[in-house]
Amino acid sequence: MSASEHFPAEIRIDDALRAEPLGNEEMDAFRAALNAAGLPAGDVAAPAVQPFRFMRNLKAVGYGAVELYGSGVLLRSIVVAADARGAGVGRKIVDWLLAHAADNGALRAFLFTTNARAYFESLGFATLDRSRAPRSILTTRQAAGLCPASAALLTRAVSPSSREAEPFEQEQHP
Ligand SMILES: CC(C)(COP(=O)(O)OP(=O)(O)OC[C@H]1O[C@@H](n2cnc3c(N)ncnc32)[C@H](O)[C@@H]1OP(=O)(O)O)[C@@H](O)C(=O)NCCC(=O)NCCS
Repeated sequence: MSASEHFPAEIRIDDALRAEPLGNEEMDAFRAALNAAGLPAGDVAAPAVQPFRFMRNLKAVGYGAVELYGSGVLLRSIVVAADARGAGVGRKIVDWLLAHAADNGALRAFLFTTNARAYFESLGFATLDRSRAPRSILTTRQAAGLCPASAALLTRAVSPSSREAEPFEQEQHP
């Protein structure tokens, strides 16, 4: 059973936008969208990756994925169709992925980015030195090879309300 089969076929975000677990037959379109945006696509079919498609009026307007590692979640492969950008779709995708991660027990989110740091900072993420990240995040394929070493690692609490209460998992690495 794939990870995405744990979820309903379609999840309503608002009147216009719906999240769908991505089927195997839709992976090529997902990879094409990532390639067009210059994002790594080599590991999207890996078992740890839960990919989603975001639909508006029967049209795919974006994609995003998570990798869940206990209390940590890696947000990744977030891309909005070029003709749908600037209308809040990206923010809704991030909000939905965070809510999905919270539903699955995650407390802290991580992501790597080369060219959208300011965007994610506007959504509450802050830069984290890689040496302070959990090993589970550092050993993902994104961290270990697919994202350039120059990619920034960003983090935020999954739920804004848990920002103060949640003790941030910090592992020391030699
Ligand atoms: C980054 C991305 C997902 C944002 O999606 P979106 O739906 O356009 O974003 P929203 O509508 O929620 O937000 C738009 C705002 O973010 C800003 N923004 C968009 N991309 C940005 C970037 N790379 N860096 C900084 N700000 C950015 C816009 O200027 C706009 O600002 P404004 O509200 O002040 O006008 C989209 O531009 C995209 O798919 N980019 C290519 C793939 C990518 O870089 N993904 C991130 C991988 S980690």
